[in-house]
Amino acid sequence: MTDDKKNLPIGVFDSGIGGLTVVKELRALLPGEDIIYFGDTARVPYGPRPPQQILTFMQQILRFFAAQPVKLAVVACNTMTALGVEANQGRFAFPLVGVDTGMAAALNYGTKVGLLATQATVTSGKHAEKARLFNARAEVTGVPCHDFVPLIEGGQLSGPAVEAAVASYLAPLCQAGVSSLVLGCTHYPLLTPLIREKVGDAMAIINPALETATAAQEVLRQQALLAGPARKGATRLCFSALTEQVRMMATQILDGECSLEEVELPD
Ligand code: DGL
Repeated sequence: MTDDKKNLPIGVFDSGIGGLTVVKELRALLPGEDIIYFGDTARVPYGPRPPQQILTFMQQILRFFAAQPVKLAVVACNTMTALGVEANQGRFAFPLVGVDTGMAAALNYGTKVGLLATQATVTSGKHAEKARLFNARAEVTGVPCHDFVPLIEGGQLSGPAVEAAVASYLAPLCQAGVSSLVLGCTHYPLLTPLIREKVGDAMAIINPALETATAAQEVLRQQALLAGPARKGATRLCFSALTEQVRMMATQILDGECSLEEVELPD
């Protein structure tokens, strides 16, 4: 393997700013890697859209990364992971790593698992399928959280609207008596303090971002594509709509100044 390929960036993408919660873990775990992030802030949210349209958007984003090029693409979106990772694996010159389902971690706390996710992710049934592979007695209660992504993209991480949404989405999970709660959308870790406040110590909260970053590291290691240890990685953040709001949220999630730009996707 040439050093040139090792030094290519890792592509990371989501429908909006949520995937930056995965970028944060990747930067901590792999500080020598360059990262190019794409957030489709002009078309977010993806979750309520028909699966075929989500797949079309995903293909467009993958073509954008093919043109950079990148050595690996991390699908930092549960919705696109559930619908399109298997279908697109092997179709590009780089491998794809999707968001970890969090089910292995969740089942450490008991067989009743709560899942907060988008409509498309819950409907796909992928999390329940995976949980049953680990434990045939696993019971996953999925709750589609329509309001979370628009609220988070709008910077509302606290206040009455988001508190009411958290309370209503948690109610069926409390009723089901789940022992863990998987944040099945990369936007939701931004609401962890609020969710923790509501559930107290009754449920373990699982954010699969670290498992996802670890899976990306493992693929790079297996393919001898890890960047050299002496490198200091740079992060480039690209969005289909770069608003002041996006700037503010990106800076907040990644704790500081970042290089941000607006880009156009290929057709
Ligand atoms: N962050 C995306 C996910 O993990 C949100 C999808 C959306 O835009 O609805 O599913």
